[in-house]
This record gives sequence, structure tokens and C-alpha cells, in this order.
Amino acid sequence: MAVSSFYLLFLTLSWGLFFTNAIQPSQKQVLLQLRKQLEYPKQLDFWVNNTSDDLCYLSSPQVNITCENNYVTELKIFGFVADQQPKKMSSSFNGFPIPSQTLSQNFSMDSLIATLSRLTSLKALTLVSLGIWGQIPDKVQRLYTLKHIDLSYNYLYGSFPPTFTRLASLESVNLDANFFNGTFPNDVNLLSNLTTLSLKENGFTGQLPDLPNLPNTLMFLYLSKNLFSGQIPVKYGQLNHLQELDLSFNSLSGVPPPSLFSLPYITYLNLTSNKMTGQLPSHLQCGNKLAVVDISLNRFMGGLPSCLSNELNNRNVKFDGNCLMVDVKHQNPSSHCVEEARGVEVDPKSVKDPGKRNNPVILVGVILGGVLCLVVLVLGSVVICRRISVRGLSEPKLLQKQVQDYSVTGYPSELLTSARLVSEAAKLDTGGIPVHRLFSFEELREATRNFHRSTLIGEGSTGKIYKGKLENGTDIAIRHLTVSKKYTIRNLKLRLDLLARLRHPHLVCLLGHCISNEAPNDGDSNKVYLVYEYVNNGNYHSLLAGNVLKWEDRLRILSGVAKAVHFLHTGLIPGFFNNRLKANNILLNESGMAKLSDYGLSIIAEDIKKEDANREGVESWQMKNLEDDVYNFGFILLESLVGPSAASRKDEFLVNEMASFETEDERKKVVDPVVLASSSPQSLSVIISITKKCFVGDSWARPSFEDVLWHLQYAAQVQANAQRPAETVSLMKC
Ligand SMILES: *[C@@H]1O[C@H](CO)[C@@H](O)[C@H](O)[C@H]1NC(C)=O
Ligand SMILES: *[C@@H]1O[C@H](CO)[C@@H](O)[C@H](O)[C@H]1NC(C)=O
Ligand SMILES: *[C@@H]1O[C@H](CO)[C@@H](O)[C@H](O)[C@H]1NC(C)=O
Ligand SMILES: *[C@@H]1O[C@H](CO)[C@@H](O)[C@H](O)[C@H]1NC(C)=O
Ligand SMILES: *[C@@H]1O[C@H](CO)[C@@H](O)[C@H](O)[C@H]1NC(C)=O
Ligand SMILES: *[C@@H]1O[C@H](CO)[C@@H](O)[C@H](O)[C@H]1NC(C)=O
Ligand SMILES: *[C@@H]1O[C@H](CO)[C@@H](O)[C@H](O)[C@H]1NC(C)=O
Repeated sequence: MAVSSFYLLFLTLSWGLFFTNAIQPSQKQVLLQLRKQLEYPKQLDFWVNNTSDDLCYLSSPQVNITCENNYVTELKIFGFVADQQPKKMSSSFNGFPIPSQTLSQNFSMDSLIATLSRLTSLKALTLVSLGIWGQIPDKVQRLYTLKHIDLSYNYLYGSFPPTFTRLASLESVNLDANFFNGTFPNDVNLLSNLTTLSLKENGFTGQLPDLPNLPNTLMFLYLSKNLFSGQIPVKYGQLNHLQELDLSFNSLSGVPPPSLFSLPYITYLNLTSNKMTGQLPSHLQCGNKLAVVDISLNRFMGGLPSCLSNELNNRNVKFDGNCLMVDVKHQNPSSHCVEEARGVEVDPKSVKDPGKRNNPVILVGVILGGVLCLVVLVLGSVVICRRISVRGLSEPKLLQKQVQDYSVTGYPSELLTSARLVSEAAKLDTGGIPVHRLFSFEELREATRNFHRSTLIGEGSTGKIYKGKLENGTDIAIRHLTVSKKYTIRNLKLRLDLLARLRHPHLVCLLGHCISNEAPNDGDSNKVYLVYEYVNNGNYHSLLAGNVLKWEDRLRILSGVAKAVHFLHTGLIPGFFNNRLKANNILLNESGMAKLSDYGLSIIAEDIKKEDANREGVESWQMKNLEDDVYNFGFILLESLVGPSAASRKDEFLVNEMASFETEDERKKVVDPVVLASSSPQSLSVIISITKKCFVGDSWARPSFEDVLWHLQYAAQVQANAQRPAETVSLMKC
């Protein structure tokens, strides 16, 4: 009786976990978190008090969620009343929250982006008129699945982070009616699938975004009502798919490139209210589809090209407010255009008297003056540069150069130069972890009795590991690496410094390092010694093999490691993603706390990986690339479920036996008896479900570590609840 009802419960549960269409619990959690961060807008109330539990199938005129495979792919929230157009509420904004217009002081754009990045399948994001304020943080690059983003009518300000252009899948971007007041990244051409870019009603400054060799997908470009200046780049005349271009209400100057008018698909061209000057060529060609042209309120002179004349064509052309020679009663006197156009460069007096304009004395004077200005400017900037470099900015600059020089083996240069801890990590309590320091080779030699054989405790693809004892009695582990000479010592040191910043309670602590020139040197490599705390209570692999760990202990250890890896992925920008995760590398200290070792080494040891690749052939290298951290952690989860014997039959197991988890009987055959005896079936099911997801073929479709961690903690909770009636469980905090 009891047994059969147990089966029934179990079957229901596993059915529930594997086959229903309900939104993923972790995704729902993210949405509720989002509601909190947006400070509980009324239009999201129905997320909590609607009886239907599945947010994927709830929508309202102002809120719409679309899901695929139970993951949120589209999220749209509009803050204004449905049948009204949003309006810019305020015309000025000084970067501080405004009551009843913006979200409160508590709102953080950084946290909002972090939360959104947990919607790992999100393709379309629309958050319009919700009072969102702040600067777009660098970590916006985490939203790399996005194809469409609309954050219009909010209170975003500042510049655009360069990382924005790494959102390579973007197709449409709408940031109208915000308060952006810096420059726009000039490598927009990286967004190779971009069709629509709309930045209307902001305060963007500087030149128009350069769109060199944009792969001709751009169709709609709206930049009106900003403070863009300079000329329209000639390359805009090569945007072969462009249909609509609105550059009105800026401070653009010069003559627009004539090819702009003859683009094959252009229908709408609006250049009104700028400072454009000069004469449009009379033989200007207009594209067949060009229907609307607005060049009014500029400083154009001369005649109107015949293809822009209203009488002859079916075009709607506006040209009032220039100094053209047609329809003169709506034009300004030519002095208006000449003065305004030239007044900046030449003394106005000379404009009034054309005879003087070519006066060589004045010309020479102007040129001399210009040269003098230039000299002063150059000298000035040299002095400023000197100052800056003295103040210590020189190191990253130097580094950047070096990384470029060694780009063959280099990490992407941005990684080193822009790497920095994100705020959560900075807040992380790392108290008690000793400071990173330099060790002398002498010190290490003493600690290991001159690297005596008996102190050798491991040897892997990354080099030998020795155990040592420092003078003060501290036990240490020393990893000896041979690192390519392609890095200069300085570059290497910066890499090591970056490694030293990876500090987390669940990471084996890197105490310091030593770059030796005393040790024998074979010419094209450097000897590097990494000094770690010695973690002495065995590793997870051997504990699993010893069949002693109960299910709750396994969950506790796994949660700790998942936290550490989550930190490696997101605690530093850009993250460390290849951490050679395996059960052997999870060490336990005397209080049973899990600490991950062997992490982050790809930053100095990538050569080793490449050699491996050569040896094992291209195919297996590709396989390895498929095996990212999530995949490898999935394998550790699997070992936790079925015991480490599975390790020897890795691929075979995955193909043939993952399916065995589906039914209770088969599960009994496969799952480690210790686990079966100490786990609740519900808790087990949670882990089985997340384990499967880690093995999904496409690495991008795999869960994030935040997801993995959530499942681990959820499984631990379920386990604790199941045990509570019998015994009081204290979940160990990790
Ligand atoms: C929905 O929930 C909110 C807050 O949770 C509450 O203020 C509101 O009255 C509820 N609305 C309905 C229709 O139940
Ligand atoms: C729940 O949502 C559905 C679909 O949007 C809606 O028709 C229904 O009225 C809502 N129920 C409540 C109690 O809000
Ligand atoms: C929600 O979005 C889907 C997909 O874009 C669309 O089919 C549906 O009509 C939208 N519903 C509302 C209420 O906007
Ligand atoms: C942009 O606006 C913010 C908020 O008003 C201000 O603090 C910042 O100095 C401005 N930046 C520039 C480049 O004008
Ligand atoms: C901001 O957060 C603090 C602390 O969490 C809270 O006491 C305060 O009420 C919040 N303010 C607003 C406007 O939500
Ligand atoms: C750009 O679009 C093409 C065609 O839709 C697609 O195959 C490609 O993956 C997209 N590129 C990116 C970076 O998303
Ligand atoms: C050009 O843009 C301005 C401002 O957006 C608008 O007022 C004007 O009507 C546009 N011109 C045409 C011909 O559409």
C-alpha cells in the first residue's frame, strides 16, 4: 500500500517536472523579482493575484509575456495607459530620481540588467515608460540573446557602454525619449543584423555614429532631436537597404552626400533644422522610391535640384527656411546662409566685401593662426598625457598595447583592460582571506626542500603540484606552470593580478605567486609558481567513490561549488568561463567546506590547451569546446547521482542511460544506493531535471549557473522539508 502510493506520488512528481508546460520556476522567480525592482507597478498585480499560475499565458493590454519551452522569450511592459501615447514627462533630468516620475532612489539599473540576464532565452525586451532611471551598465552585454530592445520613454542618461555593441544578435534598438547625453559607441558595425536604430529625443553628442561597412541590413535610422554635429558621413550614402533616415533637429553641417538621395530603397529623408550649407548638385539623382524629403530650415543655397522640385515629381519635398533661389518668399536672404555658414571660420567683415575674401594677407594670417593653435593644442595634449600617465593610468594603456602585440596568444584585449569586479562581488564577504603577495623562489625552495620528490603531490596537464610548508608553519600547495614567453613579464604579471582577484569562500585561495628567473629556463617559456592554500580533507571524487556522502551533504557541496562558478562567470567582467570543472578539483577543508581548485588558469595557460588540441585532433577539440562549465558541472551532478564509476563511461553513459531516469524502476538500478536511501524522490527529481538540461547539445541553451544554483538550493529545501518530521535538519549555510 504504502509503496504503491509512494510510486504514485513519485510518478506524478516526475511528470510534473519533466512534461508540463508550466513556466520554469526559476523564470517565474525572476519575473517576480523584476516586479519588485520596478517597484510593484499596478499593471503587474495580476502576476500575483491571478489564479492561473502560469505567467506565460497571462496577458493584459500593458503586459505580455511569450514563452518557448517554458522559458520566457518576450517580455513587454508598458507603463502608460493603453490608448495613450507615451509622453516625455519631464524636459530635464539631472540624474537624481524624481518622485512620482522615476523609480525611487532604491532602483538600480545594474541590478535590473543582472535580473534580466537570468531570463536566458529572452529575445525581445520592451520596458516603456516605467520611470527606469540610471546609466546603462557594462554588464548589458550579458543580454546577448536579445534581438529586440525597447527602453523608450524612460530616464536613462550618460554615455553608452562600448559593450553594447557585443549584443551581436540585435535587430532593433529603440531608446527614444531618454536623457542620454554622451556619445554613442562608434563600432555599431559590429551589430551585423541591425535593421532599426532609433535614438530620437535624447542628448547624444559628437559625430553621427560611424556605420562603416555595416553589412547593409540597416533599414531604419532615426536620430532626430539630439545634439549630433559634424557632417553626415559619406558612408551613409552606401547603406543600400536604408528606407528611412531622420536626422532632423541636430547641429549637422556641410553638404549631405548626394548618394543619400539615390539609395535604391530610400523612401523618407528628413534633414530639417540642422546647419547644413552649400549647394545641392543640380543634376542630383533621386531614388525611385523617394517619397518624402525635408531639407527645410537649413542654410542651403543655389537652385533646387530638379528631382526635388514639387511640380515635376510626385514627391513631398519641404525646403522652406533656406537661402534657395526658388519660392524666395519662404527663403532667407543669402547673407543669412553665408554669414552663418562662414562666420565661424572667417571674419564677418570679409564676407560683406567679397573683394577682400581672397586677400592673401588675411589667408596667410588665418593659416598661420591655425598652425599656431595646432602647435599649442599638441603641446597641451602632450603635457596632459604626461600628467595622466604619471598618475598611474599608464599601466592599462601599456597592457593594451602589449595585448595587441601578442594577439596570437592574447586573451581578448578588453578582458585585461576592462576587467573589473562587479559590485556584488566587491561586496562579497572575503574577510579572513589573506592578501595576495609575491613569493621569492628561495622561499618556495625552502618550503619544499628544494622541490623534493616526496613533496610532489600531483601532476597534470597544467604542470606539477608540490606540497610545502612556509616558515610560519602554513601549509601550501604550489602549482608549477611553464608559460609561453610570448607574454612579457609585465603582461604576465597583470594576468596573475587578475587571477589574484578571484576571491570567493568556495575557491581555493591563491595566496601569491612567483615568476622565477633563477630556475633553469629553456629559452621560450617562463616558470611561474602559483601558491595556494593547502586544502587537506580529500576531494569530492574520492568521497563519492567511498560511498559515504549522504544526499544532503552532496547538495551542500555542490551548492558551494555552483556559487563559486557563478562568481567566476559573473563576478568579474568579462567572466572566466573555462574552469576545468571535475569532481577531482573539488576539495574539502577540515570543516567539510567545498573549495574549487584549478579554476581560471586559462588566462595564463591557454597554450597548453592548444597543444592538447593538436594532439587529439580537431574533432575532439570541438567536442571540448562543447564541454563548457555547465556541461562539466552536469557531469559532476551525474556522478553525484550515480557514483563516479560513470566517469569511465562518459559518453556512452550519456547516450544510453540518461533515459533510464525516467521511470522509478530504472532509476533504482542506476542511482547510487546511498543516494536512494538518503534522498527524497522529489529532491532527486529536481536534480535529475537540471542535470539533463546541462547536457543540452547547444551550449547557449544550457542553464546559467544561477539557474543551476537555484535548483540545487531548491532541492536542498525540498530535502529538508521531507526530513523535518523525522529529525530536525539544520541546513548548513554556505
Ligand atoms: C492584487 O494584489 C494586489 C497586491 O498584492 C492588491 O493590492 C490588489 O487589490 C489585488 N487585486 C485583485 C483584483 O485581487
Ligand atoms: C487572470 O488572467 C486572465 C488572462 O489575462 C484574465 O482573463 C482573468 O480575468 C484574470 N483573473 C484575475 C482574477 O485577475
Ligand atoms: C502578446 O504577444 C504575442 C506575440 O507577440 C501576440 O501574438 C499577442 O497578440 C500579444 N498579446 C497582447 C495582449 O498584446
Ligand atoms: C549627463 O547627465 C548627467 C545627469 O544629468 C550628468 O551628471 C552628466 O555630467 C552628463 N554628462 C555629460 C557628458 O554631459
Ligand atoms: C528603499 O529601501 C529601504 C531599505 O530597504 C526602504 O526602507 C525604503 O522604504 C525604500 N524606499 C522606497 C521609496 O522604496
Ligand atoms: C544574423 O541573422 C542571420 C539570419 O537570420 C542568422 O543566421 C545569424 O545567426 C544572425 N547573427 C547573429 C550574430 O545573431
Ligand atoms: C521631419 O521631422 C520633423 C521632426 O521630427 C517633423 O516635424 C516634420 O514633419 C518631418 N518632415 C516631414 C516632411 O515629414
